[in-house]
Amino acid sequence: MVEHLARLTTGVPGLDAILGGGFVEGASYIVQGSPGAGKTILSNQIAFSQAAGGHPVLYVTLLAETHDRLFQSLSTLSYFDNMALGDKIKYVSVFQCLRDEGLDSVVKLIREETQRQSAKLLVFDGLLNARDRAETELDVKTFVAAIQSQAAFVGCTVLFLTSTRLQESNPEHTMVDGVLDLSDELIGERAFRRLQVRKSRGSAALGGFHQFVINDDGVTVFPRLEAFLPAPSIHNPPSSARIQTGVSGFDQLTGGGLPEGSVTILMGPPGSGKTSLGLTFFSLASASQPALYFSFFETPERLLMQAAAFGLKIKPLISSGAAEIIWNPLTENIMDKLAHQLLDAVKLSGVRRLVIDGISGFERAAVTPGRLVEFFASLTNELRALNVTTIMTWEVRNLFGNAGTSPLPDISALLDNLIVIRTEKKDSTTKQLISVLKLRNSAFSPSDFELKFLASGLSIASVDESGTSQIEEG
Ligand SMILES: Nc1ncnc2c1ncn2[C@@H]1O[C@H](COP(=O)(O)OP(=O)(O)OP(=O)(O)O)[C@@H](O)[C@H]1O
Ligand SMILES: [Mg+2]
Repeated sequence: MVEHLARLTTGVPGLDAILGGGFVEGASYIVQGSPGAGKTILSNQIAFSQAAGGHPVLYVTLLAETHDRLFQSLSTLSYFDNMALGDKIKYVSVFQCLRDEGLDSVVKLIREETQRQSAKLLVFDGLLNARDRAETELDVKTFVAAIQSQAAFVGCTVLFLTSTRLQESNPEHTMVDGVLDLSDELIGERAFRRLQVRKSRGSAALGGFHQFVINDDGVTVFPRLEAFLPAPSIHNPPSSARIQTGVSGFDQLTGGGLPEGSVTILMGPPGSGKTSLGLTFFSLASASQPALYFSFFETPERLLMQAAAFGLKIKPLISSGAAEIIWNPLTENIMDKLAHQLLDAVKLSGVRRLVIDGISGFERAAVTPGRLVEFFASLTNELRALNVTTIMTWEVRNLFGNAGTSPLPDISALLDNLIVIRTEKKDSTTKQLISVLKLRNSAFSPSDFELKFLASGLSIASVDESGTSQIEEG
């Protein structure tokens, strides 16, 4: 039988999932990273979360001054609670004890305080300084082992914070049960923080890097999506139902609409009507089919104006809670943050109609574009499993041309349906021609149709009827 170890939850959004449920109770960890990487903010967040859950914490520092400056900087964070200080979280400096009496006395002092406090969590902020004080490697080993064994004895979890990146051959590394690495790096002009679990005994952690942010709420980690969701979180039998797009005439072409729970890519050049079509699909939101418009380009206000131009009434749907618009401007986004935000919103409202306008918003947020295919595979698999019918727009300049080195073409293999809009200029008129290139498990009409933008909404007309000559290929 597989044993499940008791866990100490961190209270840090995203981190428990990465650690496989939290830290192992009574185990010890090194939290390492360069100055400013976030070790103190992270470990205090865990401490306050434990204290809020009624578990006493001992926070040991090597600060020469009082803890007032530490409290001052922590007081700007939402998790900070003055009331928890002293009673639930006890801050102790062992600076003097270490200087005057050495490591042995520090061990003794920590043992006494841990017992007095009945601490469930011990944070030792400054392992590096303890290392400096140690005369030989053996001393450090003895110190860490002593803290570890007394903590394990009383079921207290230990975090050793250190600001140098310890080599894996360092004795501390081999002794502790886990190592968390926090880093703050530059890629191009952009700085980003990421976390890696380098070692985790007794449990499988999500491997690789996970981006995180520090803001007024402290640390929030965004588990790398393809590691977090290697397979869909639930299993729904595939549906044979159809979901209407609302584009007049289009649903007849596709046997009643898009297959429920399928993912559609809507490709087209700028201004060809991708957003208009997405809004039409979105406007069929109802209490039984909640809709989400996940936008990167247009603001909610502009989307509402654009929808109103086709007579689509979206405001009442938003007021009633049937529809929601989430807008993330194309600034410094984090791809996994976007994905978690999207999936959380989908689950929260039971979204059945989803528009992502457009997928380049994710692509631009990718720090390592090489993982886009895996990322989209796990995102779309999850959306299908949740039975969400999704339209993702994809802006292309040269429809049948080579899209260069962009990894997006690989992504099209992951999709169920492909709809293309082309802009055709003839004489002095511009027409939008729409065609279905792929439709999951369905027959469809492969011809081109004209996409018409009427005050009463979008509709399609056959190319011959609308008076356009046959489109030339090539
Ligand atoms: N409210 C806030 N919003 C955004 N970032 C913040 C906020 N408060 C602090 N930070 C960032 O958190 C970082 C400080 O983190 P912290 O003090 O936990 O680092 P550390 O790893 O403990 O560093 P050291 O090794 O020097 O002790 C700084 O980089 C600072 O920019
Ligand atoms: Mg610190």
